[in-house]
Amino acid sequence: MIIFGIETSCDETAAAVVESGTREICSVVASSKEFHEKTGGIVPEVAARKQVEFITPVISECFEKYRKEKKFDTLEDCYRGIDAVAVTVGPGLIGSLVVGVEAAKALSLFLNKPLIPVNHLVGHIYGNFVNNTQELLLPAIVLLVSGGHTDLVLMKDHGNFEYLGGTLDDAVGEAYDKVARLLGLSKYLGGAILSKKALECDENTIKGRLPRPMVDQDNFDFSFSGLKTASKRIIELNQYPQEVIAREFEEAVVEVLVKKTIRAARKFNVKTIMLGGGVSANIHLREEVKKEADKLGISTQVPPIRLCTDNAVYIASAAYFNNKSVGYENVEVNPSLGIMDKL
Ligand code: KG4
Ligand code: ZN
Repeated sequence: MIIFGIETSCDETAAAVVESGTREICSVVASSKEFHEKTGGIVPEVAARKQVEFITPVISECFEKYRKEKKFDTLEDCYRGIDAVAVTVGPGLIGSLVVGVEAAKALSLFLNKPLIPVNHLVGHIYGNFVNNTQELLLPAIVLLVSGGHTDLVLMKDHGNFEYLGGTLDDAVGEAYDKVARLLGLSKYLGGAILSKKALECDENTIKGRLPRPMVDQDNFDFSFSGLKTASKRIIELNQYPQEVIAREFEEAVVEVLVKKTIRAARKFNVKTIMLGGGVSANIHLREEVKKEADKLGISTQVPPIRLCTDNAVYIASAAYFNNKSVGYENVEVNPSLGIMDKL
């Protein structure tokens, strides 16, 4: 089954073609990130306008890539090759989501193929299933860490998830972004830049100065707003180099995420630990999870870095494994969709 996926939940406009949920045929991602960098944060109206500007060229380029990849003579051959269209319906910015959903409806009508709505958060998990030669054993604990979410989920099977816990306040990516801004490293989405800065520190001379929120609590919830405030205080002291604070912040975050994930993995006796979401691109987090999981004989699965941040490959993959195609008139955006919400 070949699915054409569309993703427009925030500031990326993406389209992809994926075969049998696991084989990426082609992918196109356009981003309006540079415009939000100028304003020091995302302006939803600007993001939506950029989605409108990008969506048709991105879909068109994706079809062209698909044609070349399959060595089809004409675009008509490509259209015939698609079995379904998939689209992110939430969570995300309403103006951005609407652009992708309306484009997907039109495409599904044009191709006369079913439309599959996809939960963006579930989509992130499927970055683990694409282009993966290793068999992925379930049940698994999934740690979903993005700019808007921090969730621990037990994945029993495709479409069968149990929510274990999540953040009570800020998402981990949001904390990264705010601390990167406080450190003067980046005005917008500074997670990766902060992490790079932390690598410049040879020795964490302030280890333990920042809190490890909720780390010893016997639950699967998180809290990052106190850590952000504590980081602000240390930065304002003006006593420590940026890279030392960056490293201590990253160690605090990773320690909490890894301890709680490992505790969940033990409690539910899972075969695999999976990461998903933009923050799963973090090298330190990937290494620490693997190190601790290896000790327990649990396998670790992380998406390739390229598939950690928003794209349509994992949307098409999630659609294949959770296929709930509906008439296009029944597909609606839901900006506040949670990971457990039914579509
Ligand atoms: O999943 P994503 O692309 O968008 C949402 O769905 O939210 O995640 C974006 C988040 C941002 O907060 C960004 O700073 C963070 O992921 N991020 C990272 C890294 N790469 C991206 N955080 C820490 N380390 C990284 N290497
Ligand atoms: Zn995302």
